[in-house]
Parts: sequence; C-alpha cells; structure tokens
Amino acid sequence: MWSPVVFSTFQERCLPRSKYVTALDIGTTKICCVVGEPTERGLNIIGVGEAPSEGLRRGVVVNMEKTVRGITHAVDAAQRMCGHKLESAYVGMAGTHVLSQNSHGVIAVARSDREIGHEDVTRVIDAARAVSVPNDREIIHVVPRGYVVDGQEGVRDAVGMSGARLEVETHIITGSLTAVQNVVKCVHQAGMSVEDLVVQVLASAEAVLNDNELDLGVALVDVGGGTTDVALFADGSVVHTAVLPVGATHVTNDVAIGLRTTLGEAEMLKVNYGHAIPANIPREEMVELHQIGQDRVQVVPRRHLAEIIAPRAREILEMVRLEMRRGGHDGFLPGGIVFTGGGCRLLGFTEAAQSLLDLPVRIGAPGQTIGMSDQVSGPAYATAVGLLRWGTKLRHHANGHSPVGVGASALYARTVRWIKDFF
Ligand SMILES: Nc1ncnc2c1ncn2[C@@H]1O[C@H](COP(=O)(O)OP(=O)(O)OP(=O)(O)O)[C@@H](O)[C@H]1O
Ligand SMILES: [Mg+2]
Repeated sequence: MWSPVVFSTFQERCLPRSKYVTALDIGTTKICCVVGEPTERGLNIIGVGEAPSEGLRRGVVVNMEKTVRGITHAVDAAQRMCGHKLESAYVGMAGTHVLSQNSHGVIAVARSDREIGHEDVTRVIDAARAVSVPNDREIIHVVPRGYVVDGQEGVRDAVGMSGARLEVETHIITGSLTAVQNVVKCVHQAGMSVEDLVVQVLASAEAVLNDNELDLGVALVDVGGGTTDVALFADGSVVHTAVLPVGATHVTNDVAIGLRTTLGEAEMLKVNYGHAIPANIPREEMVELHQIGQDRVQVVPRRHLAEIIAPRAREILEMVRLEMRRGGHDGFLPGGIVFTGGGCRLLGFTEAAQSLLDLPVRIGAPGQTIGMSDQVSGPAYATAVGLLRWGTKLRHHANGHSPVGVGASALYARTVRWIKDFF
C-alpha cells in the first residue's frame, strides 16, 4: 500500500492537545460525537453522544441555533460518557457545495545534488493548489494522486529520489466559504474548536475501505439522510468525489406523501417494512398505519410501500452510476462498490444496486474498534469513526514532522500539513 500525502488546509491556532481524539459528524439527520483513545490494541471508543439534527438541509447549515443545540447535546452526552471535558474535534464537512477537480503541478528540484526533499514535495503541491478557485470557495483538501519524476510516471513517494523536474497529479476538494464558515461557527458556539475539517466521504472511506479494495479500484457511496456522497479510488488514491443532492430522507418524504401519513410514521414504516424491490414482497403481506385525517388504523399491502420506495432508490443508484461515469469509471472496478451511511440499510437496497450497477456490492461498516464499539458499529457511524482514524493518523504524523505553514486566511492560520500513511 502506498502512502500518499493528504494536505488539509484547515487548522486552528493554539489547539488544545489531549490524548483523546474527538469526532463530530454533523449530518442531516443526526449529529454524532464520538471520543476515541488510540491504543496499541486499536481505537478504544470511550464516549458516544448523539442528537437529532434539525438545522441542516442537504448537508448545509440553514439554522444555526438548532445546529448549535444539536452539537451541544451530542458533545455533552459524549462528555458524560467518557468523563472528560472535550475541547476540540475533527469535524466532517458535507453538502452539495462540496466540489472536486483534478490539478497538475510542476517544479524544478531545488537541491544541487538533485535529491527530492520534503520541501520540494510541499512546493509542487502548492503549485498544484494554484488553480483558479472563485473567491467564494475554499480549498478543503489537496490529495496527491501520484508524482512524475523527470517524465517517469507512477511514483508514489518522491522523497529521496533523484531528479530535476518534479510533477504531481492532485485531487482538489473545495467548498463554499460561507457553508464552511457556518459549520465552524456552529462548532465554536457549542464551545468546541475545530482540529481539522474533513470531507465526510473521505472520512467514511478511512473507516470502511480496506487496502486491497483501494489498490484494486473501488467506489465508496455513503447514502446519508440528506445527501449521497460518492468517491472513486484507483491505485490507492482518490480520483473523483461528488455529493449528490438526494438521500434517505427523500425516501421517507415519498412514503409520507404516498401513504398520506406523518414523517415520523413514514420513517418507521420505511425502516421496519420498507424494501427496494417490490417483487420480493409477497402480495398478501400487509402493514398497518395511521393516515392523516383518519381516526382508524389503515391497512395497506407492504408491496405498495415498496412500490413507493423503489423509484427513489433507483433514482439514487442511477445518479451514482452517472457520477461514476463522470469520474472516469468505464465499467471495470475490481473492488466493486462499498455502500455505507444509514440509507444503505434499506432492505433490498444492495440487491437493487447489484443488478442496476452490475458490480460487486457490499455494505461497509466501521470495524476494528474496541471499547464501546457496538455503539458505532453500524454504517451510519462510518463518518464519525473515520474522523477518529483520520485524527489519529494526523496526530501520529505530526509527532514526527512539524507542519509547514503557508500563510494565514482572514479567520484562521491555515496550515498545510501532510499525513503520511493515509489510506
Ligand atoms: N434500517 C434502516 N432502513 C432504512 N433506512 C434506514 C435504516 N436505518 C437508518 N436509515 C436511514 O438512514 C438515514 C440516516 O443515515 P445517516 O445517519 O448516515 O445520515 P446523516 O449522516 O445524518 O446524513 P448526511 O450524511 O446526509 O448528512 C435516515 O434517513 C434513516 O431513515
Ligand atoms: Mg452522514
């Protein structure tokens, strides 16, 4: 497994450092705070707090007050469980404003003996960063995909090699400045500082993908409440990312409208009786529900519920297929598709995905944690556990190498850091 360097562009000043790592996943349906302690035996989960998320739409904060309240509740609950005061967290960033592009950088190697050093790598990444990003957008990550040394392609770690010309291919992820600032403001108002902002799909990938899949080429699809996040990986590195404006809450909305029931009842029906393939449901199976404006309990065929759900599930999958084509996937993906996020738990979803996308499919859930691991073992916790893993690696790396500053933005000292052994 090669070790690309991931540059995150966000870091706050004077960060409190504790031996615990805290993750804050601000999702569209739930806000989740998880505290972990990296140990030799693995990541020890010592605190989990969760609160409903009511201030986001499609991953973007639309109501600060409700979002701050949700973060505060989740953090308080996690704090109570682990018995430590939490001060800072790795925060997941999502929303349809998150966009990605690939960029190329080239420099002349500085040293007279032509040996490529860490500074050259930093400079070439900076050169790749110098893409035109509109003023209202912020670069969140710069992920090097591979280096070219004097025309020799496929170099995974250029440090220590000899050469005169160093090039890099990078994947750049940007977000709307306003959306990024609003998330950070909410975290601050809840009394926490941000150790790093991480795009949610990269965090989820960290939690559920294995080295083999990353090397073979794999797609990660996080079906959340408000958005479906897609990331394509090849040769161990991310090559395409996208956030689609549709998720599992849309399924619930369809059920509520189709069966004239409340959103709460629709959610219960979807989770307990929903299915993505109507033909798999025997015709005689019935479900009971309360319809709006009706006093008596109604009975409808369960297959009818599945018929309402199936088109939306198919729409999500077709959008995923389109996005994979847009990302350059031409039908050959040996690692297949790994689904995660709460939405992929819908019965029949993976079967529907397999037949529509014609690729091997599995559900990815965060594994290999200890302590209160059962509380974060479902696919809905992939982002939170991934953020913990991200933070653990970042700190581990920071112990060996000091970050390289690249100037300050209006709000924060921005730092380019490099994380070895990511993925
Ligand atoms: N067993 C289940 N069957 C069907 N759907 C489920 C099941 N469990 C959870 N879900 C759905 O998963 C969704 C929540 O997923 P998740 O917790 O990953 O979203 P989120 O992280 O809050 O949102 P986002 O990532 O879009 O911001 C909800 O819409 C919920 O209905
Ligand atoms: Mg999510």
